[in-house]
Amino acid sequence: MSKGVKSMENNKGKQTTLFKNLESIPFTYGTVIFNKEKFVSYLEKINSQNNVSALKNKIIYLKEIISSPRSDREAILNIDPNGDTISLRRDILISELNQILEAKTLERAKYYLRRLENGVKKVKTSKINDINLLRWKEYDEIITDSLWILDKRDTSGAHLALYWGNFIPQIPHQMMLRYTKKGDWVLDTFVGSGTTLIECKRLGRNGIGIELNPEVVQKAKRLIEREYNKYKVTTEIITGDSRTIDMKKTLESLGINQVQLLIMHPPYHDIIKFSKDNKDLSNARDTKDFLKMFGEVIDNATPFLEKGRYFVLVIGDKYSKGEWIPLGFYCMQEVLKRGYLLKSIIVKNFEETRGKRNQKELWRYRALVGGFYIFKHEYVMLFKKK
Ligand SMILES: C[S@@+](CC[C@H](N)C(=O)[O-])C[C@H]1O[C@@H](n2cnc3c(N)ncnc32)[C@H](O)[C@@H]1O
Repeated sequence: MSKGVKSMENNKGKQTTLFKNLESIPFTYGTVIFNKEKFVSYLEKINSQNNVSALKNKIIYLKEIISSPRSDREAILNIDPNGDTISLRRDILISELNQILEAKTLERAKYYLRRLENGVKKVKTSKINDINLLRWKEYDEIITDSLWILDKRDTSGAHLALYWGNFIPQIPHQMMLRYTKKGDWVLDTFVGSGTTLIECKRLGRNGIGIELNPEVVQKAKRLIEREYNKYKVTTEIITGDSRTIDMKKTLESLGINQVQLLIMHPPYHDIIKFSKDNKDLSNARDTKDFLKMFGEVIDNATPFLEKGRYFVLVIGDKYSKGEWIPLGFYCMQEVLKRGYLLKSIIVKNFEETRGKRNQKELWRYRALVGGFYIFKHEYVMLFKKK
């Protein structure tokens, strides 16, 4: 998102509204940039009209200057380098202006106008993210459905997709946009190749990743280093066992005592063996042992997640000896046992793994013979700390 947008400071060292807003608007949509003061006063002027056709004429003028900036006699589009500027998504603005034009009464037209005015003048966010609810229509990048069919992995920048068993960057990306604010801290207890920390750097969140395998840590560090640190955040990756690592000391060494988002993407038991280490969850003796180990990680991390904040669990089910093992739901129970509130279960498509792609036919044959279905999904489960 917002590729190519440079963070810029004005000469008082304060970020201008222009660039704050641009960060929420992908350029591909096309944006209109206004001189905020002039735009607001023009909207106020429209709102003072007591005649619906006079009001609509002023809206038509606004539409005109958007399509042909040269006709901007009131200099609403003139950007004052030291002033406040606002950028709005063109398609949404046009549809809002059309809505005003289609209003049957002056009262209705003013209602739509006030809504537009509020979205320009004010910012309304919740405690857990930076989404401006007064301009929610501009965030169609954010998924709110529980079924995710993502057809392509984001392989841009440092996201190389080389680590066997990593998750697609869109998962931490979506979760951070909805459940964190800029400057918040994210803890990933199974950080692997560092996907979460790369996204942290992109979105301006601080991140701590814990990973058992020192070789994986070294590779992840190199990858994370490649990502430009636009927001000057801290991303720290630590070698350790997430069940037993001294979380308090780890956080204190970074000057914090809590995190605002917890992400866990554990091994799906023994589907992929990540190492030979018996502390590795992929080497758990059986499902019961796996769940015990997973529970220990939850217990170790939970005290350090801020109350009212979110815990994201990414997990899939598995087959064993002809039987579907609902590992995802077993893990969900482990979390719920610890007093979390279940907020959502997202079902996400599973991209074809390299191995399976080549053996597609064979798997289909096996499925037909064995009476089972081929895994095409995994879960992104969301819990809130009470
Ligand atoms: C499914 S992968 C996570 C991949 C990660 N989301 C990514 O995008 O690269 C699980 C990771 O957990 C690590 N792991 C297993 N047991 C662990 C433990 N006890 N403590 C910390 N990490 C562990 C494995 O080495 C593996 O890298």
